Amino acid sequence: MIPFNRATITDLEKKYVLEALSSSHLSGDGSFTFRVYEKCKELLGLEKMLLTTSGTTALEMAAILLDLTPEDEVIVPSFTFSSTANAFLLRGARPVFCDIRPDTMNMDETLLEDLITDKTKAIYTVDYAGVPCEMDVIESVAKKHSIPIVEDSAQAFGSFYKGRAAGTLGTFGCYSFHETKNYSMGEGGAIVLNDESYEDRAEIIREKGTNRRQVLKGMTDKYTWHDVGSSFLPSDVLAAMLYAQLERFEEIKTRRVAIWNGYHEQLKDMEQKGLLRRAVIPENCEHNGHMYNILLPDAEARDRLVAGLKEKEIYAYICYVPLHSAPMGAKLGYRPETCPVTEDYGQRVLRLPLYADMTDADVTCVCEEIGRILG
Ligand SMILES: Cc1ncc(COP(=O)(O)O)c(C=O)c1O
Repeated sequence: MIPFNRATITDLEKKYVLEALSSSHLSGDGSFTFRVYEKCKELLGLEKMLLTTSGTTALEMAAILLDLTPEDEVIVPSFTFSSTANAFLLRGARPVFCDIRPDTMNMDETLLEDLITDKTKAIYTVDYAGVPCEMDVIESVAKKHSIPIVEDSAQAFGSFYKGRAAGTLGTFGCYSFHETKNYSMGEGGAIVLNDESYEDRAEIIREKGTNRRQVLKGMTDKYTWHDVGSSFLPSDVLAAMLYAQLERFEEIKTRRVAIWNGYHEQLKDMEQKGLLRRAVIPENCEHNGHMYNILLPDAEARDRLVAGLKEKEIYAYICYVPLHSAPMGAKLGYRPETCPVTEDYGQRVLRLPLYADMTDADVTCVCEEIGRILG
C-alpha cells in the first residue's frame, strides 16, 4: 500500500514531545514555541513569526489584521484550498477569482491588474505545490495600487523565489504545519509578519484580543481586553513536535526533493509519448519537494489513472477542485467560465504520493503502474 502522504516521525519528535509533556507549561508560547522561532530565523531568516493553530487560522489572522470588511474585494486564485478564500469571507469580503498560469498553476500575474478595482483591499497569493508565485510582477502591481499581499505559503515552507524565502515576500506569509505538509505538528501553522507595524496588534489578536503577551514580556502586570481576537495559539506540546521536524529540516527537504526528482526522471518518457505532462518549476524558484503533480490529457485519463492506481493500493489525490465552480463559488455568483484554465486543470491534474519515508522502490512502482495504466 502506498498512501498519498505519511508523516515522518522519529525518536527525536517523541523525545521532545515527552519533554514538553513533562514541563509545567502545556499551553501556548512555552519554551518549544520560542525555540521554533529561533530555528526559523536560522533556517529561513524569518524575523517575526507567530505560531498558530493551523494554516487556516494564520490566513484568518491576516484578514483581521487588514481590517477587511463586507465592502472589500480580495483577489485570490480559484485553484486553492477553501481556507484561502474562507479567511476573508469570514470578514464578509468578496473573493475575486484570478485564473492560473498553465505551467506552475499559480495565480496568473498577467491578469492581476485588470481585476483591481477601487474596492480591492488585498491580494491572497497561493504557492501551489510549494512553488512560489511570480512575485516580482505581483509585488509591483500591488505596490502601484498600494494593496497588501498575503502569501498563502501553506505548502511552501522551505521554498525560495530568487533566493528569498516563500512567506517573506508579502505583508504577511502564512504556513501550514498540518500532517500533510513537509514539516508537521499534526495541526498547526504560522503567520510571518513582514511589516513590523503589525506586530503588537498581531500578538493581541492571537491572544483572544488581550495584551497577555505583554504580561509575559514583563511590560505590564495585568492583562485585559484590547481588540477582537481569538484563540490562535497552539499548545507547546505541538510546538515540540514541530521543533524536532525543523531540526530535521535539511534531511526532510533533501529526501523529498530526491523523490520529486525520481518521479521527474522516470516520467520523462511518458511525457515524450504525450501520455502526461510533468511538473514545471521556473528557473528562478527553489522548491521544497512538497508535491509532484502531473497533468493528464483529459478528465477520462485522470479518472482511469486514479481508479487503476487504487486497485493496486496506490493513492493519488485530486488537488484542487476549483473554488469558483464549487457549490460555494456558484452561490457567490461565479460561473465555470470565470477561470477557464483553472476549470480545465481542475479536471486533469493529479497529485502523486510523496512523503519523506517513501522508498525509491515505491517511486518506481508508482511510475511503472502509471505507464501500465496509461500506456
Ligand atoms: C493552499 C492551502 N492553504 C491553506 C491550507 C490550510 O492549512 P491547514 O490545514 O493547516 O489549516 C492548505 C491545506 O492543505 C492549503 O493547501
